[in-house]
Order: sequence, then structure tokens, then C-alpha cells
Amino acid sequence: MEERKGFGTNFGFLMAAVGSAVGLGNIWGFPNKMGASGGFTFLIIYLILAVLCGFIVMLGELAIGRKTGKGAVEAYHVLSKKFKWMGWMGILSAFFILFFYCALGGYCIKYVVLNVGDLFGAGFGSNAMAAVADANGTSVGAEVFGAFLGNPTEAIIYGLIFVAITMIIVIGGIGGGIEKVCSVGMPALFVMLLICIIRACTLDGAVNGLKYMFVPGWAVANGVIDKAPDFLTVLATAGGQMFFSLSLGMGAMITYGSYLQKKENLQKNAILIIVMDTLVALMAGLCVIPGRFALDPDGTLGGPKLLFITMQNVFSRMGGLGPIFGILFYLLVVFAAVSSSISLLEVIVAHFVDKARDAGKGDKRKTYTLIAAACVGLGCILVCADALGSTGFAPGNLLGMTGELPTWAADWLDFWDMLSEGIMMPLGALLMSLMIGWEVGPEMVKEECEQSGHAMGSYGFFKICVKFITPLCMILILYGQIKEFFF
Ligand code: PFF
Repeated sequence: MEERKGFGTNFGFLMAAVGSAVGLGNIWGFPNKMGASGGFTFLIIYLILAVLCGFIVMLGELAIGRKTGKGAVEAYHVLSKKFKWMGWMGILSAFFILFFYCALGGYCIKYVVLNVGDLFGAGFGSNAMAAVADANGTSVGAEVFGAFLGNPTEAIIYGLIFVAITMIIVIGGIGGGIEKVCSVGMPALFVMLLICIIRACTLDGAVNGLKYMFVPGWAVANGVIDKAPDFLTVLATAGGQMFFSLSLGMGAMITYGSYLQKKENLQKNAILIIVMDTLVALMAGLCVIPGRFALDPDGTLGGPKLLFITMQNVFSRMGGLGPIFGILFYLLVVFAAVSSSISLLEVIVAHFVDKARDAGKGDKRKTYTLIAAACVGLGCILVCADALGSTGFAPGNLLGMTGELPTWAADWLDFWDMLSEGIMMPLGALLMSLMIGWEVGPEMVKEECEQSGHAMGSYGFFKICVKFITPLCMILILYGQIKEFFF
């Protein structure tokens, strides 16, 4: 039977896992949610949840993966009677996230090209839009994005280019594709981010961005938001953000864990992934938010519009060096998005490749990756064609809903996001902690952690959390998320 090849080094694994965690969620989700939900207060709640839930679920998933040496579907199958179907929920979540993630990744590639156009004064840059924006009394960013959304064919082409990049890396396998790309891409992303932070924080007026992010109550006192959210909302926002940002609750870390060598230290890796992801989220905030306050004070603070309207305005207003920073910034966002999308596609592919290998049919990685990518491509086309709900076939329209549509029904991006990030990921994390705490037993995680020869110092803490505290927090987070979506 063909050998199941994994990560060559712990550094390679770490970069791939951090690459999965660091993504669009860090860049447009975290900084804005932190600012709107009370600055430091949000950060403290986020960190507490990261310890009580993030660390526990991360360690649990890595242990499940490495113990079984299988992708999410088989791993749950081997370990549990009651929860054996959960791997399939992970695969479904991976598809749903990929549908919108690839569309947005494609948008980011378009914006790299746009800024290259600006650098050389070419027609495909944003320069041509300046006169239109003046005439309409809008901004260059708004005109560029409006024109892009008005041309779904272009969005579809860029989305499919992003799917193709993801597919090619995953065809390369773990050691040959994912590990190689992330070992170079992640350090590069870090350096690019540092350069962008220095530029953003030294702009006139940048200090207001820092106040928005860090000073409790500043956003309300200065009219950036109407009123401070209540505690349950902050808890649900921080919790939901954390699970999406750490790629938890849908099998990504099970899959990567299954490729990790037995000699590596799971506990240390889990802590490092969480620390690095949070650090990059804060760093992304230091780049994006001060830029917005300095150069586009009326710009949107979160979601796709932050990336594609506000940030483009920031670069357009930066003067001669604007396009260079624009290229750097959007390239780093493309890197962040690709390193996440490959982990999502791998969740799907790993299962089918393992099955083929176990059946003695050899490693059919190429075939399965092509099939999975084709399905992702179809979902991506739907999201791109919908153009954030501007073309009239949003889920709400198809469901015959009338009046103003709730966010999740207003466009396909938010619909897939609601299903995956909103419901399936927190539900997956809740059920996983119940499975480890009450069916399989936390000793399984201890045994697996100690394979490396290091004692699991956090076992007492892990045991109490996985049985009681994590499930309780998860129920609150899930309730808060559902309430926010539907009520
Ligand atoms: N963690 C990614 C982000 O913050 O954008 C999103 C993600 C990637 C979620 C991979 C889940 C996953 F498996």
C-alpha cells in the first residue's frame, strides 16, 4: 500500500496550521469587531475564550487527527459511535466556506492587478475611475468596486483563478505542496504586514484608528457606532470570530494533525498557533484601521467593503507610493487567503485520498482534488454571479421572502457564511468537546500528547474544560450567534 506522506518538519506543520488560521477573518473581522465591541474589553474576552475554548478544541482536534492518522470523516468514525457522522459535517462546512472564500480570494487577485495598473498608469488601474467618482460625488474605491460587481464575468474569472491556485497546491500534497508554500508564504506575509503597519501608523490621523481599536468606549463616544453591544453579543461575536479565525470545529486541524509526526509536541503547537493567529489579527488591525481613519474617515470598517472600497481609497489617496503599498497589501491578503483555502480543500480531499489508499487503489490525490475543486468552482461562480446580492437571485428572493431581507438571506456570501461560521463550526466544536469529555474520555488526548515524550502539563485544566466549561461556553456562543442571525 502506498505510504501516507505527512509534514517533513514541525516548522512546516506550524506554518501550514498558522496559514490555515490566518486569513480573511483576521484582516477584516477581528480589528473591526474589536473596535465596535469595546476595544480592550473585547480583546480580554477573546483571550479568555481562546484559553477556555480555543486551546481545548485545538488540542482536541490535533490529538484526534494524530491518533487516528486519518482525515476528519474516518477519524470520527474510528473514535465514536454517537458522533461518527461529524466528519461529514466538517466536509460540508469546508465546501460552504470555500464557496465564498474563493470568490473573495478572486476579488483580492483583481485588486493586486488593479494596483499594478495604477503603478504603471495603465488603463486597467483605478485611475480612470477618479473622474467618474468626482462626477458622481463618490470615491474611487466605491466606483471601482461598483464596476467590478457590475461585471460578474470578470469576478467569476478571478474567482476561478483563485480556485485553480488552491487546487494546484493541494495536488502537490502535504509535503510537496502545502508545506512548501506555507513555509515561504507565511514569513513573507509577516514581513509585508510589518511594512504596511509602519506606513499606516505614520499617516496623519492614524492615532484615531488606534483609539478605535484599543480604547474602551471610544467608538461610542465618538459616534463611530451608535451604542455599545450587550455582553452576550460581545461574547458571541468574540467566540464566533475565534472559531472561524482558528479554523476550528470543522476538521481542518484534525486533518493537519493527522499528518504530524508522533515526536512533535501537540500542546506547544496548539499554543503557538493560537498566539500567532491572535498576533496577526492585531497586526492586521494596526494596518487596516489606522489607514481607514487617516485617509478614508467615512469608509466602512468591516466586511468585504472594508477591503475593497475603504482600503482602495486609502491607497488611491496615498500619493505616488500608494500603488506599491496597494500591491503589497493585496498580495499579503491573497497569501493569507490561499493558505487558508488549501487547508479547507485538504479537509475534503484527505478523506477520499485515504479511502482510495486503504482500498489499495493508490494515491488518487490528483483526481479527487480536481473533482472537489470543480464542485467548489460551481459554488464560487454562484457567489460571484450574485455580486453581493445585487442581481436579484439572493437566497431570500428564491425563498420568496418579502420586505427588507435579513443579512443572511440578502446575498449568497452571507448565506454560506451563516451556515458554516454561524452554525456548523460552533456546533462542531460543541459536539467535539462533548465527545472527548463524555464518550471517548480526555485521557485519549493526554496519551496522544505524551507520545512526544513530554508530560501534558495542562491535563487537569483540559479535563475540567472539555467536560464542563468549553461545552457551556459553546452553548452560549451558539445561542448568541443564532440569536444575532435570526432574531
Ligand atoms: N481561519 C480562516 C480565517 O480566519 O480567515 C478561515 C478558515 C480557514 C476557517 C480554514 C476554517 C478553515 F478550515
